[in-house]
Amino acid sequence: MEIASSSTKFKWVTAFLLLLACSAAGQVQDGPLVNGNFETPPSGGFSSGDGFSDGPSEIPSWKSNGTVELVESGQKQGGMILIVPQGRHAVRLGNDAEISQELKVEKGSIYSITFSAARTCAQLESLNVSVPPASQTIDLQTLYSVQGWDSYAWAFQAEEDDVRVVFTNPGMEDDPTCGPIIDDIAIKKLFVPDKSKGNAVVNGDFEEGPWMFRNASLGVLLPTNLDEETSSLPGWIVESNRAVRYIDTYHFTVPEGKRAIELLSGKEGIISQMVETKPNKPYRLTFLFGHAGDSCKEPLAIMAFAGDQAQNIHYTPNFNSSFQNANLNFTAKADRTRIAFYSIYYNTRSDDMSSLCGPVVDDVRVELSGSSRVKVFGFGFMFWLLVFVFC
Ligand SMILES: *[C@@H]1O[C@H](CO)[C@@H](O)[C@H](O)[C@H]1NC(C)=O
Ligand SMILES: *[C@@H]1O[C@H](CO)[C@@H](O)[C@H](O)[C@H]1NC(C)=O
Ligand SMILES: *[C@@H]1O[C@H](CO)[C@@H](O)[C@H](O)[C@H]1NC(C)=O
Ligand SMILES: *[C@@H]1O[C@H](CO)[C@@H](O)[C@H](O)[C@H]1NC(C)=O
Ligand SMILES: *[C@@H]1O[C@H](CO)[C@@H](O)[C@H](O)[C@H]1NC(C)=O
Repeated sequence: MEIASSSTKFKWVTAFLLLLACSAAGQVQDGPLVNGNFETPPSGGFSSGDGFSDGPSEIPSWKSNGTVELVESGQKQGGMILIVPQGRHAVRLGNDAEISQELKVEKGSIYSITFSAARTCAQLESLNVSVPPASQTIDLQTLYSVQGWDSYAWAFQAEEDDVRVVFTNPGMEDDPTCGPIIDDIAIKKLFVPDKSKGNAVVNGDFEEGPWMFRNASLGVLLPTNLDEETSSLPGWIVESNRAVRYIDTYHFTVPEGKRAIELLSGKEGIISQMVETKPNKPYRLTFLFGHAGDSCKEPLAIMAFAGDQAQNIHYTPNFNSSFQNANLNFTAKADRTRIAFYSIYYNTRSDDMSSLCGPVVDDVRVELSGSSRVKVFGFGFMFWLLVFVFC
């Protein structure tokens, strides 16, 4: 009887686990979307690349509406060579045109979409990325890199298991062939990392964030996002009207772990977080900041805020290290305290004079200072050491 019931239990558990696995099986995997780089040839092959087809192009795995065109690298328009961010092909959206793809996701989860975009004509181009009802319009006016394109990330919370990701050109230009070019679309399911013990900052090491292509040498821009719940950088918001850049160790120098944030555009690029604090207690904000190893022209300096305290800290170039420690002491006034960072200067790279860059921030911590917590840890450690030694 005992055995029978435990084996039944086992079967139920197995069935449940299988069910979980099955329900997750259909879901989109982290990484590029199907034909997210637009390199899959349409059934009739890619058109020769010099002319514009009349009807809307057919794009494998995508639905389109309006003037949507597959463009090829090297293709010219009005004497200007069109920019294809990656590979040989990308897609261009004319006035009011859109492309979309259906995705199977997990209802309630947060996902981040990474994509590359370039503008074509000099107009104020923008791109509306949405998973209805959520949407954001990304302004493509500011060029952050001299290459003429950038990668961006935008996050949404899935309201259904079946969603549609839509890219729309909301513009109404005189020249209908103007309009943003998009490429390299990927997705990543995000999780909010647990707070580490004693540190009130969530994702203070910036290790959790949007999908990055291994060869994304420009990093990923995180545009304005005031909603902490749907942030591509869990825990943080980008509260300025310009973007900050998410960078990795493959192409940049990062103080700790694999990823960090590079602050761009001076005061126009601010990241912040509301951290849990106890009123009237003394705290210490510590972080690492330094140079991304990307030829950013010095001086570099950072403005750090914690509650009503603010401090500017200048980066001292050091032959041995690309980063340094910084700290700021404050007394909490409430049960939530805002910490924030921006770059004091408006830096550009010395090798191209126009790509935006700036100081890197990483490993952000807010800890009780002078803390009895450390002593408790010390005591606990000694206790176990004694137990270990004597037993
Ligand atoms: C295509 O776009 C037009 C204009 O925005 C709209 O009226 C129409 O319903 C769209 N068609 C489809 C199939 O989405
Ligand atoms: C972006 O597009 C979605 C539909 O795909 C629409 O609901 C939303 O209003 C648009 N947002 C803006 C700012 O135009
Ligand atoms: C980036 O990687 C993808 C596959 O991961 C590859 O198809 C593409 O050619 C690479 N792009 C560059 C510029 O190296
Ligand atoms: C760099 O490292 C060397 C040896 O590790 C040390 O002697 C030197 O003082 C360091 N320089 C700086 C500026 O920290
Ligand atoms: C903060 O306080 C600690 C000691 O509690 C001190 O070592 C540190 O220099 C202080 N930081 C600043 C920026 O004053």
